[in-house]
Amino acid sequence: MRTKIVVGNWKMNNTIAESLELATGIAEAVGKGIHCCEVGIAPSFPALHEVGKVIEWSDISLAAQNCHYENDGAFTGEVSARMLAALGCSFVILGHSERRQLFGETSAIVNRKVKKALEEGLRVILCVGETLHEREIGVTESVITGQVVEGLDGVSDISNLVIAYEPVWAIGTGMTATSAQAEEVHASIRATVAGIYSPAVADHLRIQYGGSVKPSNAVELFSMPNIDGGLIGGASLNVGDFMAIVKAAC
Ligand code: 13P
Repeated sequence: MRTKIVVGNWKMNNTIAESLELATGIAEAVGKGIHCCEVGIAPSFPALHEVGKVIEWSDISLAAQNCHYENDGAFTGEVSARMLAALGCSFVILGHSERRQLFGETSAIVNRKVKKALEEGLRVILCVGETLHEREIGVTESVITGQVVEGLDGVSDISNLVIAYEPVWAIGTGMTATSAQAEEVHASIRATVAGIYSPAVADHLRIQYGGSVKPSNAVELFSMPNIDGGLIGGASLNVGDFMAIVKAAC
């Protein structure tokens, strides 16, 4: 039985003060002793430390939105997995489509980041997803399989890894994949992982769905057999909406 996991990806939103207000509201709502679903929030880098302090008492995990694949060095503007782990982050989101599309991250770069983050003791949320064009020309499955295979290349142990399926065309557009469309891709990801590792490893792997998840569609999405929670963008910036989605996972 896989425990569902819901993570709020705040993206480039909120000052430190705004982040603290939002995090405090979520911590009060989640509290301690929530066992039906794992909950995480991913504020921007400047807010991570302060947010970490206000959620420390609660069952919420702290997540970062990206990291570099080296520990230290001349990489102006970058943040390493080692720094994030020392700061108290439990998770790091890697390979988000915004990173791939807007910042030129290839699967090879994502793979280096995945390996480094796991090595530093972080848990990884590896994002994969196809564009609308790729869906329309019928290559969704091969694109997703490629991203999974390349993202996990040389990774021997995925017990600390979650995969997030986020169709690019559903992110921030209000266009959600139907539960059947999402389930089809999730099942195919699980089959790919079973082929690389084993059916038992694939069975334990949690696969989140992301892309316009809202309180109104979360229950249906999360009721699918291969959908193990969500990676939430816009709706995670509001305590009420985010908590309704967490409750849907429960
Ligand atoms: P939205 O929920 O705003 O569509 O964003 C999804 C996402 O990209 C989460 O990582």
